Amino acid sequence: MSSKAKFSYNSSEVELEMGVGTMDEKYVDFSQFRSQTNGVISLDPGYKNTGSCESEITFLDGEKGILMYRGYPIEQLAEKSNFVEVMYLLLKGELPTADQLAAFNDDIKEYDMVSEDVTKILSAFPSSAHPMGVLSTLTSALTAFNPKAVNAKSPEDMHRAAVTLIGKFAVLASWTLRKMKGLPLNYPDSKLDFVENFYQMMFKRPNRDFEMDPIVINALDKLLILHADHEQNCSTSTVRLVGSAHTGLFASISAGVSALWGPLHGGANQAVVEMLDKIKEDGGDVQKWVNKAKDRNDEFRLMGFGHRVYKNFDPRAKIIKTAADQVLDKLGVHDESLEIAKKLERAALEDDYFVERKLYPNVDFYSGLIYRAFGIPTEMFTVMFAVGRLPGWISQWIEMRQNNEPIGRPRQIYTGHPKRDFVDISDR
Ligand code: SDX
Repeated sequence: MSSKAKFSYNSSEVELEMGVGTMDEKYVDFSQFRSQTNGVISLDPGYKNTGSCESEITFLDGEKGILMYRGYPIEQLAEKSNFVEVMYLLLKGELPTADQLAAFNDDIKEYDMVSEDVTKILSAFPSSAHPMGVLSTLTSALTAFNPKAVNAKSPEDMHRAAVTLIGKFAVLASWTLRKMKGLPLNYPDSKLDFVENFYQMMFKRPNRDFEMDPIVINALDKLLILHADHEQNCSTSTVRLVGSAHTGLFASISAGVSALWGPLHGGANQAVVEMLDKIKEDGGDVQKWVNKAKDRNDEFRLMGFGHRVYKNFDPRAKIIKTAADQVLDKLGVHDESLEIAKKLERAALEDDYFVERKLYPNVDFYSGLIYRAFGIPTEMFTVMFAVGRLPGWISQWIEMRQNNEPIGRPRQIYTGHPKRDFVDISDR
């Protein structure tokens, strides 16, 4: 569709091109707006109404609660696929054949050893350091140990960079847990599949036999699928913006880890469980906390609720809620905070404040309760999110570079002092 939009102000009028995306999303092309209007710009704090790019990777419809990776509905991928296959899908654009999947797995294992010198950086951290800060640092440090510049236009270079990072990132993520617990580091075991390997690196102890519960591995695989990409969220936009300066992939992903750390973004899964525990300790009066969340004078927010795009149920939250019930039941884990979460959800969804603002549980509302049932510490929940989101970040970074996107540099509206002359200190 190539129709026009008219923008008129004062006595002038400009015509703007319009376009439409695959799923009928309509847009106005603002790329020439400033020159067409002699200097007028759009202002959109938080980019709530602004598209930053065109992308073929993920589609989500916040009103309808739809999420698709490369056209495949998240519900089908969560039920029928596995995380390594979804990583391939996001990176390559198609589901792999059995041979392609086997080769992809082998490539990840080929590059999953991390230089032992990286452990010297890790050892410099106090065990109290938040694992997301450690992960961001170690990810950036990978640049120093893998200095070979990659040609973003070379599919071979991009494939090698992707599998290198995917293999090493899981090692680094597991090391942040071992550091926090004061445990010796584990190393990859090439006999295991990706998720089993990640899990053993996190939990295997040198002084006892190690067994993995298939229930845990399957649920972890599903959670990683559900976190794998989410179009232009804060951390992915960060990865694209940093990469648009032609900064290397590892450093760009390190920036994405830092953005995800924020409690309004990926850090919410940690904040949700801390909130639920606080409500439990406070006697479990969920209505009291719903009222606090509604009170403008109270800075408390219902963590795990609300979303910039979803104004309906986050489809991932629905899947995770079901999984939480199943996993805790199968593991025989009774976590009172799960019951509090369900009560909180019911109370909020019956409350006009949340209904009017279309605030629903998001991906972070139930995920932490599953991680806790696995024995994963609360501070590690956002690291788990990062391991899931890594293939999305890499895919979006590669797409941005291969589309020759310009360096990201937004404009602003200046509201400071008009021009004034310098005053010597003796005259101030
Ligand atoms: C993720 O973007 C993505 O795709 C992110 C993500 C991904 O996969 O990458 O989905 C992952 O980050 C999920 C979101 C995790 N964050 C949280 O759960 C933190 C709690 N949620 C809020 O902070 C908030 O809902 C945001 C940050 C998620 C979205 O904020 P917006 O879009 O900027 O909306 P807003 O802050 O302008 O809120 C609109 C209204 C306000 O009230 P009014 O000013 O209209 O009276 O809704 C209220 C807000 O006060 N509101 C909440 C609320 N969230 C919004 N009130 C109470 N509790 C909340 N959680």
